Amino acid sequence: QIVNLADYRPTDFVLERVDLTFELDPTNTKVDARLIFHRREGVDLKAPLVLDGDELKLSGLLFDQREVPASQYDATPELLTIRDLPAEAPFEITVTTYINPEANTQLMGLYRTNGIYCTQCEAEGFRRITYFPDRPDVLAPYTITIIGDKAANPVMLSNGNFLGGAGYDEGRAFAAWFDPHPKPSYLFALVAGDLGVIEDKFVTMSEREVTLKIYVEHGKEDRASYAMDALKRSMKWDEERFGREYDLDIFQIVAVSDFNMGAMENKGLNVFNDKYVLADPATATDQDYANIEAIIAHEYFHNWTGNRITCRDWFQLCLKEGLTVYRDHEFSADMRSRPVKRIAEVRHLKSEQFPEDAGPLAHPVRPTVYREINNFYTTTVYEKGSEVTRMIATLLGADGFKAGMDLYFERHDGDAATVENFVKCFEDANGRDLSQFSRWYHQAGTPLVSVSTAYEADKFTLTLEQTVPATPGQTTKEPMHIPLSFALILDNGSIAEPASVSGGEVTGDVLHLTERSQTFVFTGISSRPVLSLNRSFSAPINLSFDQTTEDLVHIARHDSDLFSRWQALTDLALPNLIKATSDARDGKPVTCDQAFIAALLEATADTKLEPAFRAQALALPSESDIARELGCNNNPDAIHDGRQAVLALIAEAGRDTFLSLTEEMRIEGAFTPDAASAGKRALRNSALGYLALAENTPARAAEAFAKADNMTDLAQALTLLAHRFPDSTEAKDALDTFAKRFADNPLVIDKWFLIQATIPGEDALARVKALMENERFNASNPNRVRSLVGAFAFSNATGFNRADGEGYGFLATQILAIDPKNPQLAARILTSMRSWRSLESARADHARDALMEIERAPQLSTDVRDIVERMLKA
Ligand code: ARG
Ligand code: ZN
Repeated sequence: QIVNLADYRPTDFVLERVDLTFELDPTNTKVDARLIFHRREGVDLKAPLVLDGDELKLSGLLFDQREVPASQYDATPELLTIRDLPAEAPFEITVTTYINPEANTQLMGLYRTNGIYCTQCEAEGFRRITYFPDRPDVLAPYTITIIGDKAANPVMLSNGNFLGGAGYDEGRAFAAWFDPHPKPSYLFALVAGDLGVIEDKFVTMSEREVTLKIYVEHGKEDRASYAMDALKRSMKWDEERFGREYDLDIFQIVAVSDFNMGAMENKGLNVFNDKYVLADPATATDQDYANIEAIIAHEYFHNWTGNRITCRDWFQLCLKEGLTVYRDHEFSADMRSRPVKRIAEVRHLKSEQFPEDAGPLAHPVRPTVYREINNFYTTTVYEKGSEVTRMIATLLGADGFKAGMDLYFERHDGDAATVENFVKCFEDANGRDLSQFSRWYHQAGTPLVSVSTAYEADKFTLTLEQTVPATPGQTTKEPMHIPLSFALILDNGSIAEPASVSGGEVTGDVLHLTERSQTFVFTGISSRPVLSLNRSFSAPINLSFDQTTEDLVHIARHDSDLFSRWQALTDLALPNLIKATSDARDGKPVTCDQAFIAALLEATADTKLEPAFRAQALALPSESDIARELGCNNNPDAIHDGRQAVLALIAEAGRDTFLSLTEEMRIEGAFTPDAASAGKRALRNSALGYLALAENTPARAAEAFAKADNMTDLAQALTLLAHRFPDSTEAKDALDTFAKRFADNPLVIDKWFLIQATIPGEDALARVKALMENERFNASNPNRVRSLVGAFAFSNATGFNRADGEGYGFLATQILAIDPKNPQLAARILTSMRSWRSLESARADHARDALMEIERAPQLSTDVRDIVERMLKA
């Protein structure tokens, strides 16, 4: 069934308190839920109490401790309806259900992972535990009692503060928890089992001592120390930057090995995919460390943006997610290099969100309709949502943004709020009207801004035109308020200070495009300047701007905004990659503009630039970036071959530079995961990649593999061997060595799966099929499935999109196999086909056939049905 924002209304009954008792059993857990309600003022006396369920069976129902007669209620697996309830007085409903955690393969609700009891309730998992008003605007304090086998469950955790616990009769134990902060059910969590723990403490800004615990499987305790360090830094940063203090006596994190997403911000008890907790130099890459830092921060920051202030309904998801992603981005920028972090964010946004916004799954940051809310945990809600928050900060400036945030925390603490509430705080705190700006929440599609410029006798004229493309359900669009950071760079590299500006609002270095078409005139410009536009990616848009090679080189050399220097190098690369694609398709030799190669190598060798930045420049636009730039009729083989040929030309021209970098970027001494060291490793590994192209032998990569003393270098060397020289004995030996060395570490084996699943070319499918039979593969673990099937579909353009369509057929088979067990996982992996319409026609036909095969299946989850139908419809 379809849910519409316009249909929102509050519940008829107000929930006052929740008291849960769990009697744990792997296959038959008893849940008693005592719920105190009262009828909301003004609600019809005939209105029944309606509680949500999902695959539940009612085993007991009491009203004020007396059994409710069968005539007074109806129970189905999805709904419990109770009639004839009091007019005003509070009453108590006790619901008893029995659930089977062991059989819960969806990983929603209460389930088991490696012998541990664990929950995931966002968005609608709590209704798989007990009948409940399972929606985010129903807030209450919770008391939780957990009873379980003492030997099997030395650890029994839930939200809030620990009340007490003890041995119980006959080998049983209990633990009780109380969470005083009213919360919606999606933030409930329970974890029980035999786990190891590391412990620390944090003293808050008002000098309260908070106990910090991270639970992991026994033997993995040492690998949780980086996560603990990241947690303490997050707590400190949120106090300093946003004035937010933690609000319970204890904060706990549990790492589990079966988890549908990255992590979950349950109040006081975050549950994590262990991939985002466990790290040590021998098993985690620099990227793993950066992800752990960012996700630990993200979930912690939710304590205020998500938990203390939650969402009124699921349409408001970006209220907590977009804002919290913005907060974790700012945190990482402060912990690491701000421009390099910004480059990584924009790369991610463009490669994941832009295609979503340009395809059949496009939707607004704040949608107005959904069939399955799980399918709206998207890069549009998260990443574009973060960009919209960033634009508010750009529009209002640091102080104005801070004032708005302070008002938001003050005004809405304890509320289930809306996007409108949020925006109003910035309006009220700054005396501004943000109604046009708010279109960013409501209009889907990436705006396109076309730029033309003229210079004449000290006057610089800039004409901007914006269009927002049509998206499913939205054919016409209104003009957006687009904040564009800019600089007019003069010949000597300095930035011009215009005497006057007309044609629109300009604040500091930001010009405000608010009309469909607008002309800005700058006077007092002594010589023709080079325009650097959308610096730091101040707005998430596409630019159509034909800048000359000379101008781009000038920006790449001189812009004081490092992001823009990277962007200029990217803009120099793209036309070359596009031309290489058509040359490769036509069987012509690929050539490349020497000015581009020279500019890239100049940046590569520039020791004033940080190594991580240089590595980002050398990474070049990805194959999917090129596909997006081309827009339609894409041939992934031609894109791949053309890009490889360009890389080879760069490798040849820069051979000496790359050779010296392998020495200059060598790190002596023990591994540290800090950003500066990570940047050196990134640049060195990038240089090794180019050298492998120039030398065309696996020797150097094999040597790097043999000598690596950390996982970053080891995995890079293995990738290089496997992707560039897949048939060499060096590659085969390295893959074997790697598998044997890390046989007991599934997270590292995931890297082994992923590296092989992403080897380009036609053979990939056979390789992936063979790996699915590998003893290390486990079709019911989401991390394994994502590393093999997910990596193949999302990150192996040539292998997945093979011309005969077999890749799509394989994916269809996999989706239909995963769906009955884990619909969320199946639906997520299926979104890898979101850009199928931009393929050349033969491939697109095959892709449509595969999608139709899925659509025709007799049994489909709502999750997969929703995705497949939207992909075929638009
Ligand atoms: N709130 C979690 C986070 O952002 C993610 C939950 C995802 N839930 C889902 N049903 N996909 O960290
Ligand atoms: Zn989140």
